[in-house]
Amino acid sequence: MSESAIVSQEELQNQFTYMDAVAELIRGRHLRAYTHTFGCQQNEADTERIRGMLHEMGYEMTEEIDKADFILYNTCAVREHAEDRAFGNIGALSHLKKQRPDVIIALCGCMVQQEKNVEKIKKSYPQVKLLFGTHALWRFPSLLYRALTEKKRIFDIGGVDDIAEGLPVLRGHGPKAWLSIMYGCNNFCTYCIVPYVRGRERSRRPEEIEKELRELVAAGYKEITLLGQNVNSYGKDLGLDVDFADLLRRLNAVPGDFWLRFMTSHPKDASPRLFDAMADCKKVAKQLHLPFQSGSDEILRRMNRRYTAESYRALIVDARRKMPGITLSSDIIVGFPGETEADFEQTLALVQDIQFDLLFTFLYSPRSGTPAATYEDPATPQQKQAWFERLLQAQDAIVAQRQAAYQGRTMRLLVDGTAKGPDYPFTARTEGNLLVCVRGENIKIGDFIEATIEKTSLRCLFAVKQ
Ligand code: 5AD
Ligand code: SF4
Repeated sequence: MSESAIVSQEELQNQFTYMDAVAELIRGRHLRAYTHTFGCQQNEADTERIRGMLHEMGYEMTEEIDKADFILYNTCAVREHAEDRAFGNIGALSHLKKQRPDVIIALCGCMVQQEKNVEKIKKSYPQVKLLFGTHALWRFPSLLYRALTEKKRIFDIGGVDDIAEGLPVLRGHGPKAWLSIMYGCNNFCTYCIVPYVRGRERSRRPEEIEKELRELVAAGYKEITLLGQNVNSYGKDLGLDVDFADLLRRLNAVPGDFWLRFMTSHPKDASPRLFDAMADCKKVAKQLHLPFQSGSDEILRRMNRRYTAESYRALIVDARRKMPGITLSSDIIVGFPGETEADFEQTLALVQDIQFDLLFTFLYSPRSGTPAATYEDPATPQQKQAWFERLLQAQDAIVAQRQAAYQGRTMRLLVDGTAKGPDYPFTARTEGNLLVCVRGENIKIGDFIEATIEKTSLRCLFAVKQ
């Protein structure tokens, strides 16, 4: 186990000194930075920190990769597809690097926290000048300084499971913000690479989280999502007698009009105590993303998930009893090694029983270094694909029904962006996080509005402002 600590003021100060040094180095050159993020919200939050540092150092952000002097890909390792796309994108940049040798191409995130990928990039992707892992993120200013001043390539995937407080952050436009409350994962689900690339669980101190929330609310953010790989085990490492339910209650007491969301939860740690806190806290949105992965107890056992389909059902019954109308979503893996037709039927049965509002379904992707990658896997890709499609079809039918039930309802919405079509020019979210397209007079992004649902489709509700 690696030790976990808060990065000292002295070390952070050192990085701020490097930020000044980079700023000095690039002064007057009007350099531009482009970033692209693969994967989960945690990665998006990490990119916002890097953008914050880049901004602080004097880089201007650009959406046009061809015009960028600094290009960063923040990568994901959860499934092979994400890795392939990252490699494809970097490969395509060799052309740009030839045309403009001064451009700095950087890679960070989960994919480069694995030795085999680092070797591959060293050997076959010479255009990558700077590479740093998830543990080195806070050292970005010194790494960038070296990339700008040294001839050699800079690779840093070392570091322990630290927490760095006080880094600058450049958030996206709009009323939504991420707030990381913890990092890493201790669960070691047998299919998952995350514990290997993001290290052990470490929680930020509650007062730091509250401080950041207050700043976000003061800055006008209306929807704040608390992030962690398994938020339900928040606080276990702090020795402070504070758990996730306590944290929710504390954050709910922060003054202001906003919704709090959180993700991701693990069924083995989600508890009646958590649902009581959610039900009591007015600002905590009545929405729960609770991945169950499989409806078969045998598969769950081999995934090392440490709950059963029955205990999962009981959790949902409790959540719905305490919060009628709560929106539910889940993640499912289809085709885990050794999965049979009968196992799959149990997953389907759970989906039919619970009637989720939204599902994220994934075909199992072997990750080298995880236990499941060595398990026997007799089902054919065709079989797995057929199961996958049956699942999608079943879920589409459920969603169509659930969406139709909103017809005519008047609901509170948060307007969060502009829509493509002219008839309903804005997008919004319900408290349950359902997507809505809205029309009406005097609508502004960032407003909470009351609106009535006029029609529904599979992916969207359509509403008119009251
Ligand atoms: N293959 C397919 N899906 C995976 N997930 C995690 N690891 C894998 C894998 N090896 C899915 C899980 C998790 C979500 C974030 O990604 O469903 O909840
Ligand atoms: Fe991966 Fe399981 Fe941890 Fe989620 S809880 S990040 S699926 S190991």
